[in-house]
Amino acid sequence: MEGNLHASFEAVGQPVMQGIGRILFSKEAIQQRVGELGDQISRDYIGLNPLFVGVLRGVVFFISDLMRAVTIPARLDFMAISRYTPRGQAKGPVRLIKDLDELVEGQHVIFVEDVIDTGLTLNYLLRVLRTRNPATLEVCTLFDKPERRLVRIPIRYKGFDLPDRFVVGYGLDYHEAYRHLPFVAELQPEVLNLA
Ligand code: IMP
Ligand code: MG
Repeated sequence: MEGNLHASFEAVGQPVMQGIGRILFSKEAIQQRVGELGDQISRDYIGLNPLFVGVLRGVVFFISDLMRAVTIPARLDFMAISRYTPRGQAKGPVRLIKDLDELVEGQHVIFVEDVIDTGLTLNYLLRVLRTRNPATLEVCTLFDKPERRLVRIPIRYKGFDLPDRFVVGYGLDYHEAYRHLPFVAELQPEVLNLA
C-alpha cells in the first residue's frame, strides 16, 4: 500500500519528497472520510445554510474538500491568528490578526480544524465566537490528538484519531513545508533533529 502511494506520487512526475517517512493516511483514505463527513453535515444542516469557519492556513485543504462534499447551501469564511512565542517558552498567547468578514449572530457555525492538539487555540477562538451569539456552534476536525488535550473541546465531527506524534501533509506543515502532500505522513527522525 505504502509503496503504491509513493509510486503514484512519482508517476505524476514528482519525486517522493525528501524527509517523508511512513504514510499514516493515504490520499484515498482521507478523501473517503472527508466525503463521509460531508454527507453527515449535509444531512444534519438541511435548511440551515451553515457558515464554515476555518483558521488559516493549514485548514484550507481540508475545508475546501469538505465543502465540495457538502450538498446543501453553505458559506465559507476564515480567521487568521498569530502566536508570539518568546524564545525558550511554550506556545505564547493567541492574537487574532484577521477576523471573519461574515456576521455570526444567529448563524449556524461549523468551526473546521485540521488537527486539534492541546486544544488551547481552538478553546480561545470558540470563546471569541460564542460572545457573538451564533444560533449553533459545532466543531469539525479532520484529525484529533486526544492524548495531548489540555482543555475540554466538544467535537461534533471527527475524521481520524492521531497518535501523539508529529505528522505532515494535507495542510499540516513543518516550518511551512509539506502542506501540499495529498497524504499524511510521519517525518523521518533526521528531519526533526535538524530543527
Ligand atoms: P493546539 O491544539 O492549540 O495545540 O494547536 C493546534 C495546532 O498545532 C494545529 O492547528 C497545527 O497548526 C499544529 N499542530 C499540531 N499537531 C501537529 C502535527 O502533528 N503536525 C503539524 N502541525 C501540528
Ligand atoms: Mg502549523
